Amino acid sequence: MGTDTNPSNSDDQMENNVDIDKNLTKKGTKTDTEIAQETSSSLPSNKNENIKEIKANYISSNSNKQKISVNSDDQQTKPKGLLNQDTKEMKKKDHNAEFIIQVKPEYILKERSTLLTPLTATQDGGDIRDKKMENNGKSKKRKKGGMNKKRPRDQKICDANKLCLSVVRGLPCSYGDSCKFSHDIKAILADRPPDIKEIPSSQMTLPNGATIECPCPNYRLWGRCDYAIMCRVGQCHLNMSTGENLTRSDCELDEKNQPLAKSGFVKNVLRKEVQQLLRKKKFPFVCKRGNVRHKQNTKNNVKNEEIEKPHNTLNSSTNPFMPQAAEPKHTPDVDLTPLPTKRKLIDFRNKVYIAPLTTVGNLPFRRIMKHYGADITCGEMAVASNLLEGKPSEWALLKRHPSEDVFGVQIAAGFPDQFTRISEVLEKEVEIDFLDMNLGCPIDVICGKGAGSALMLREKKLKECLVGMTNVLSCPITIKMRTGWDESKPLAHTLIPKIQSWGFDGVGAMMLHGRSRLQRYTKLARWDYISEVCNDLKLKADNDSIRHIPLIGNGDIFSHTDYEERILSNPNISPTAMLGRGALIKPWLPTEIKERRHWDISASERLDMLKDFVRFGLEHWGSDDQGVNRTRRFMLEWLSFLYRYVPIGLLEVLPQQMNHRPPQHMCGRNDLETLMMSKHCGDWIKISELLLGKVPGDFDFQPKHKASGYK
Ligand SMILES: Cc1cc2nc3c(=O)[nH]c(=O)nc-3n(C[C@H](O)[C@H](O)[C@H](O)COP(=O)(O)O)c2cc1C
Ligand SMILES: [Zn+2]
Ligand SMILES: [Zn+2]
Repeated sequence: MGTDTNPSNSDDQMENNVDIDKNLTKKGTKTDTEIAQETSSSLPSNKNENIKEIKANYISSNSNKQKISVNSDDQQTKPKGLLNQDTKEMKKKDHNAEFIIQVKPEYILKERSTLLTPLTATQDGGDIRDKKMENNGKSKKRKKGGMNKKRPRDQKICDANKLCLSVVRGLPCSYGDSCKFSHDIKAILADRPPDIKEIPSSQMTLPNGATIECPCPNYRLWGRCDYAIMCRVGQCHLNMSTGENLTRSDCELDEKNQPLAKSGFVKNVLRKEVQQLLRKKKFPFVCKRGNVRHKQNTKNNVKNEEIEKPHNTLNSSTNPFMPQAAEPKHTPDVDLTPLPTKRKLIDFRNKVYIAPLTTVGNLPFRRIMKHYGADITCGEMAVASNLLEGKPSEWALLKRHPSEDVFGVQIAAGFPDQFTRISEVLEKEVEIDFLDMNLGCPIDVICGKGAGSALMLREKKLKECLVGMTNVLSCPITIKMRTGWDESKPLAHTLIPKIQSWGFDGVGAMMLHGRSRLQRYTKLARWDYISEVCNDLKLKADNDSIRHIPLIGNGDIFSHTDYEERILSNPNISPTAMLGRGALIKPWLPTEIKERRHWDISASERLDMLKDFVRFGLEHWGSDDQGVNRTRRFMLEWLSFLYRYVPIGLLEVLPQQMNHRPPQHMCGRNDLETLMMSKHCGDWIKISELLLGKVPGDFDFQPKHKASGYK
């Protein structure tokens, strides 16, 4: 039996990053207006009176704010004409100042709280900012930020210690004696450790209407848990004397003895047949490899809804993506029906959009974000070449939960054929509302292949990518970029209007993260620059009578006031709250933005949020040892951001700003709050133990994103 059929191996994604889910929106079943209506939120509208009112309220309720937010106020008053300004002058501005958050004196400690775990070298989170502060603000040696490559991994669980899935499902195993998994239920039962009692349970309704507490998410949801005796919370569905895996009487099974309700619940799962085609390089692509010469197919001044897609011209000799040799043989496993003629639009206005976030923006995290009011979610960056090879770990990044009702995937590639071919596969195989092109990733391995930020520098290739993609995709394309490669030579202000002038009907929106590639996260996002690019873009669209592509600004949004000040103050910036670290550090931020308040969320509410993450994690990554380990590691990655939140009730001056740091030693209003503010890995592990049980003695963890890389 292949490893893919074992539930422990089916979601082989930890190696890479994260994953995704799916929504209830079926392709082609909703009109644009319906989508826009469904996703319209209670965000404040972008009316001038409203802005004035918001600003007035904000200023009066934050009279002390100047003390701590010099930079953001400063950005608002920047003179016009920045785009033409000498870049040297821009450089002179200090966008890197750090401030200590003003905390009420009763919460400031002289030394580390005794409640926290004693420090050891390996458990120290290695936060360069903290080191800086310990050295009186003088950083001796600046560590390189970015990804932490040498991270400890969990020991792989030996296949021979896993029960064969066929046995679990009560089916004969086609591999017989040569099966690498165990068929010996008794032996596994004898070695089975007790259930992890710390894992939170939820109520389950039995067929007779009674409710019981059940910690196994699989049994609770589907009436049957495929992890059987390997489930770490399996007592509720096991006969502990025989090891028999029980199935709830109301659970309908399919021909493979799998719960019917489960299949297709999470969307965008790579089908076996397609994976085989991709692996064997037999997928019937229309676009050939290396095909980069295209005839542009653009229509200016036409509403998206009215545009006829050119798919019905697939057989035309004018189409550059036509097969150059023989027609591909029709493969019955792949749907080759012509694409719909209308492109569904997404209205990003007055929405909270959770930015793509590698590793931490995984499916369970995004479910939490939906709970707190996020409107639009996006998968983590997936690399086109890996997807085209059918790599399960990369495909796992595209999964979508039903709660994600407006959902996009983000793709990184450096070449038009890669972008076009992956668009072809995605068009046929997944349900997405938009495809986001990554033009912002700063990582060397990505940029080295001409992708990520490097694609910003390769305009001609970018245009060719768009030609290919708009030919094969029926969903809108969005383009996410940085200000440029180097802070001193911003180029987004020339590239963005150029993309608009190309007139591709498929480009639904552009996102501008207000930092350059080389800056990574070390300075404040340039909202003055974003604002001017937005003004210029609108002006050019009006002057040239071409379709205006909405431009969404991104960077440092950490409170509703940040959103109102930076975005609502300029009607040319798309009124979209695009959240990155703000969502990671304060997942309830969408609620704050929509309700226009600072939420003093309690530590126990935050712990409940983590309990939900555990439930979602075990549902997604599995409830066996491997699933528990993955859930823990992803939770620890998230905790490496969550600790940066300073509770509202502790602040002397509201609100906390993204670049502001707390005093070195603090306590909270209770022990849990104190623990949750700790910047040390040892304490994050302790939090994980409250919810997932003890870690093995040799357990070690280092966050993937070094703090200096993602400040
Ligand atoms: C941990 C982490 C992972 C990220 N992963 C991605 C990614 O996969 N794709 C991408 O385009 N941007 C990624 N980004 C950048 C964010 O999407 C966003 O543009 C950036 O963090 C600026 O917004 P912020 O200041 O609100 O955090 C990542 C950022 C962080 C902090
Ligand atoms: Zn077997
Ligand atoms: Zn179970």
